[in-house]
Amino acid sequence: MKKYLITGCAGFIGSNFVYYMLNKHEDIQLVNLDKLTYAGNLENLKGAEGDARHIFVQGDICDRELVQGLFAEYDFDCVINFAAESHVDRSITNPEIFVATNVMGTVNLLQCAKDAWLQNGQWAPGKKYLQVSTDEVYGSLGAEGYFTEATPLCPHSPYSSSKASADFFVMAYHDTYGLPVNITRCSNNYGPYQFPEKLIPLMINNAKQHKSLPVYGDGMNVRDWLYVEDHCKAIDMVAEAGRDGEVYNVGGHNERPNIFIVETILAQLHERLADEAIGENLIRHVADRLGHDRRYGIDPAKIRRELGWYPETSFEVGIVKTIDWYLAHEDWMENVTSGNYQKYYDEMYKNK
Ligand code: NAD
Ligand code: TYD
Repeated sequence: MKKYLITGCAGFIGSNFVYYMLNKHEDIQLVNLDKLTYAGNLENLKGAEGDARHIFVQGDICDRELVQGLFAEYDFDCVINFAAESHVDRSITNPEIFVATNVMGTVNLLQCAKDAWLQNGQWAPGKKYLQVSTDEVYGSLGAEGYFTEATPLCPHSPYSSSKASADFFVMAYHDTYGLPVNITRCSNNYGPYQFPEKLIPLMINNAKQHKSLPVYGDGMNVRDWLYVEDHCKAIDMVAEAGRDGEVYNVGGHNERPNIFIVETILAQLHERLADEAIGENLIRHVADRLGHDRRYGIDPAKIRRELGWYPETSFEVGIVKTIDWYLAHEDWMENVTSGNYQKYYDEMYKNK
């Protein structure tokens, strides 16, 4: 039985990953370490309740004793680090926590993996540390070209700087000590359980309530969108078969300007809810994000060539599935937007 330490899997991508893995593999053990910050939510894991293959542990990836104890108890074969502060806008107002979790937390996991897997100068066989990273570490593209794994890292936001820094530590542990590692760098994800601070769920939530839709700047910034399940599939494949020390870019050649995404959501909701008040008049162009990266675009040729990965869900299908999910889970949205969300929203958008 393969034993995984997965971190941050009460969040958006991680909870989708738990379901993906439980459906795909019969004989696994997933130990899910999550601090349950504002972005982590046990409701996201309801579907795994009662499944003995999934064990949830509330805690911080920065906690050396806790992580060491988990290694001693479970003798993990694989660590997959999803845990992070993940929102660019929050990183602009409060960068320090991004260093604590994304950089220090990653280094703590690397150190614990090294301590557990390197015994008397010998690496235990069959082990792997996989870091879930982002295309944002490459910086911003102009109108032409794509990020490849050879593109130099050039992060701009505090978020992407912290993720790039973590990536450098992962490679440092590989190059210096020989820790077996992979890094995946994926483009923007969308799908179920995404917290409504990110573009797609925020716009769905606002439009449903006839609130204005805050589009940063001219709305022509481009993101390369991938359905979350396709990202989960890529991570599983890299964990299984990625070559030691390699980086794999993950993306589905699905670049869209933000304004197109917002208009698509409006058109879908207008039709599905037969609601005349949902229309483009809700769009409000607001002050641009500081340092806003203009365009991301992934070249996924390496993961396709080496591991046979390809995306299965087109944007047209994925966005409808996503909107369906949010329409069917109004309680989930109400729960995650009760608490501190309104305060966050008012603070973040008041001067825009
Ligand atoms: P998310 O914000 O939805 O979830 C993050 C999870 O990490 C939450 O459950 C939170 O409670 C947990 N967490 C935060 N700090 C922690 C700590 N110190 N210790 C333990 N747990 C902690 O994020 P997401 O969108 O699911 O992203 C997951 C990972 O994928 C991140 O590493 C992110 O950088 C990366 N990524 C995200 C995207 C995207 O589009 N969302 C794209 C590429 C890569
Ligand atoms: P986001 O979902 O925050 O992801 P990221 O910044 O990691 O790419 O934002 C996606 C794009 O949408 C980005 O170009 C910023 C833009 N955006 C808006 O225009 N308005 C918003 O309210 C938000 C949250 C994002």
